[in-house]
Amino acid sequence: MSTQLEDAAIGPSDWTSSLTYQSRATFRPTAADLRELAWKARSRNHALGVTGMLLYDRGRFFQTLEGPPESLKSLWDSISKDQRHTDIEILSEHIIPARLFGAWDLLSCHGDVADDSDVRRAKAGHELTRLVPSLIDLVLNGDDIGINKTIASLADQGWDGDTILTHLIEPTARALGDAWMSDDCSEFDLTIGLSMLQLAGHAVRNSPTPAALRQSRYSILLASAPGEPHTLGTSLLADLFTDAGWHVDMAFPDSNQALANQLAKQQPDAVDIGLSEAVPREHTLAKLRETVERSRFAAPDHLTVVSVGGRLFADAAATAENVGADHARKTVVGTSIKLAELIKLKRQEHGPR
Ligand SMILES: Cc1cc2nc3c(=O)[nH]c(=O)nc-3n(C[C@H](O)[C@H](O)[C@H](O)COP(=O)(O)O)c2cc1C
Repeated sequence: MSTQLEDAAIGPSDWTSSLTYQSRATFRPTAADLRELAWKARSRNHALGVTGMLLYDRGRFFQTLEGPPESLKSLWDSISKDQRHTDIEILSEHIIPARLFGAWDLLSCHGDVADDSDVRRAKAGHELTRLVPSLIDLVLNGDDIGINKTIASLADQGWDGDTILTHLIEPTARALGDAWMSDDCSEFDLTIGLSMLQLAGHAVRNSPTPAALRQSRYSILLASAPGEPHTLGTSLLADLFTDAGWHVDMAFPDSNQALANQLAKQQPDAVDIGLSEAVPREHTLAKLRETVERSRFAAPDHLTVVSVGGRLFADAAATAENVGADHARKTVVGTSIKLAELIKLKRQEHGPR
């Protein structure tokens, strides 16, 4: 099975990839089978620098893995061919700013099969762990502003980033896994929730000030090129970026000025300007170049990454350079990874916002 990790250009070695999938077991594992699987996986993951969470419930596996892109690729080579499961569905795959599961390598969890329960109990006793249920509510409601507020207020009370991560964010991720196993949330909720927690984890690791928290989640404005009639591509992208944990806004402006106004107001980390996916019309390129220029002007801190897309880029010879953009997507596959790389590079070049 081909994944975005193979398709996208992977950047510097310190980046962390995250891959989440679900699958169906081809056998009925006993507690001992699961323990053995987890035990073997743990030692290989440890050697590869991979962390994550593996859940099993009534014939279904759910696993989230995070680690260096190369390690994840070689691990995925094995896991995807493993005959013990089938119907593998990749739920999310992206570059993450920091690990969510820093302190644990892997946990196989199936009611009474949880073999790290001592560690779990120890964590559960911590003062911050009492906040797990309210954090879960925020996560399941998709309330990233609420999550950031909660964490910022803990930082204000003097809690350090590592403690918040270890005793609140990571246990919340585990508790979400438990919620999935008891059918209290869907794998979709769990996948999005883990993305949100990954971003919150990144924020607390990197000085959890309110300003840092605001930029913990990459944001993108998905816009159709002014006047374009076909907006399907933009809507498809919205799902993809939301799934990858980004803050997504959409715009269907009727003029360059309208788009510029929205960009000036929102100052997103990236803007994607989409031409029609259906009709290749070469003459739209000159107009798009003007739109890109106006958009850059509207984001004066030159930190916004400008991406373009449409049929001209997919199967005609048009390139990002033709229109002065940073990136041209030929397909939606790998776009969120590529744009995350570009944002990171811009921040390295110019410093944070
Ligand atoms: C659902 C599931 C999850 C797995 N997760 C891991 C894992 O995280 N790490 C790992 O090393 N092996 C994992 N395995 C086992 C691998 O598929 C594979 O058997 C093992 O890595 C040995 O690889 P090899 O057969 O290529 O030598 C998993 C297997 C299944 C069925």
